[in-house]
Order: sequence, then C-alpha cells, then structure tokens
Amino acid sequence: MLVLPKGVRHIPGCLSPDAQRALLDDIRAVVKDAPLYTPTMPRTGKPMSVRMTNCGSLGWVTDKERGYRYQDTHPVTGKPWPAIPRALLDLWAEYSGYPHPPEACLINFYDETAKMGLHQDRDEEDFDAPVVSISLGDTCLFRIGETTRSGRTVSLKLDSGDVVVLGGAGRLCFHGVDRIYPSTSALLRNGGRINLTLRRVTKP
Ligand code: SIN
Ligand code: MN
Repeated sequence: MLVLPKGVRHIPGCLSPDAQRALLDDIRAVVKDAPLYTPTMPRTGKPMSVRMTNCGSLGWVTDKERGYRYQDTHPVTGKPWPAIPRALLDLWAEYSGYPHPPEACLINFYDETAKMGLHQDRDEEDFDAPVVSISLGDTCLFRIGETTRSGRTVSLKLDSGDVVVLGGAGRLCFHGVDRIYPSTSALLRNGGRINLTLRRVTKP
C-alpha cells in the first residue's frame, strides 16, 4: 500500500463529473479575464513548461528579475486577479480545516509535455494553513517527498476530480509533477491538465 507523508491527504474522485465541468466553466471565465502566460525562473530566466495564471486577492508569480513572489496584479495585463470562484471557496472550507479564506488560487496548465520539478510551497507567510490542490483533465504522475530535498519520495497518479491537501507536518513536503498521461480524460477538449492550488498567503 502507498503510504503518504504525514499531513498529506489524497481524496480520489472528490469532485463528481458534473462538479468538474462546472468548475472548468468557472476557470474558463477566470482565464478570459486573466490569460495564461509563461512564467520564467528566477535568475536564469528559463521558461517554465507549465502556463500559469491566478485568481484571488493575491497571485503567485515568478520572473527572471524578481523571482518567486505574490502580487495583486497579473504580470502581463497589469489588472487585479479575478475573484476565486465560489465552488473553490467551498472546497477550501470543507477540506482545509483552516478558519480563514484562501487568498490565492494558482492555476497551472500542463500540456502533454509539461512537468514541474520537485519544490516546496514556501513563499507564504502562514504555514498554519494547508495547500489544497484540485486536478482537472488528464492524469498526472505526482511525486511527493519529505521536507528535505534528498528525502524519500513516493509517486501517485492524480486523476481529474482528485483533491490533495498538504497540511500540518506535510505542509512543506517537496512535491512535483513528473509526467502527464495524454488522452486519459475527456474533460478538456484539447487535452492537458489543469491544477488549482488554493493558498493562504498572509497571517490573518
Ligand atoms: C504545484 O505544486 O504548484 C502544482 C502541483 C500539481 O500540479 O499537482
Ligand atoms: Mn507546489
């Protein structure tokens, strides 16, 4: 049996197919206002393979000059991020176990060749709040380890509608996406995977 690190919870099939479609419509409306763009790595300026955008009062961004950070406007349009859809606030209320709302929802889009290297989510001021992640579209191979980069890791598939919560002792676990399995979901017309991560950024 697969043993996940302490504080890491995987809820397979958390969202019904109808709920996934409704959430996708919400995300399409967000992306219309706040288009996906290609972020770049700090210092090297190397483009990431995922495209990103955000909703919420704050959004996570990265670029060559200023690195990883949260800011209240879209780096390309300069506009404030759109609001977090109600369905996501409800998921946070149900699964975060945290009494204050999330401030940021990072939206990652993976085409069939995109990946994300092992990293920690540590640009937030408040590690008491968990990170709540929702997957839509094609299945991915997700890898999660310990709180040190060299720690043991386990791999699991995340399907459309799955939720993962990184909280408590698992809040700072290294994690990443090793691959996308093309054509494993019919949710996105042109394939690919969307991952949504809800975060509390500031201390309430
Ligand atoms: C992330 O760590 O930002 C995304 C994780 C995922 O795509 O499942
Ligand atoms: Mn992350």
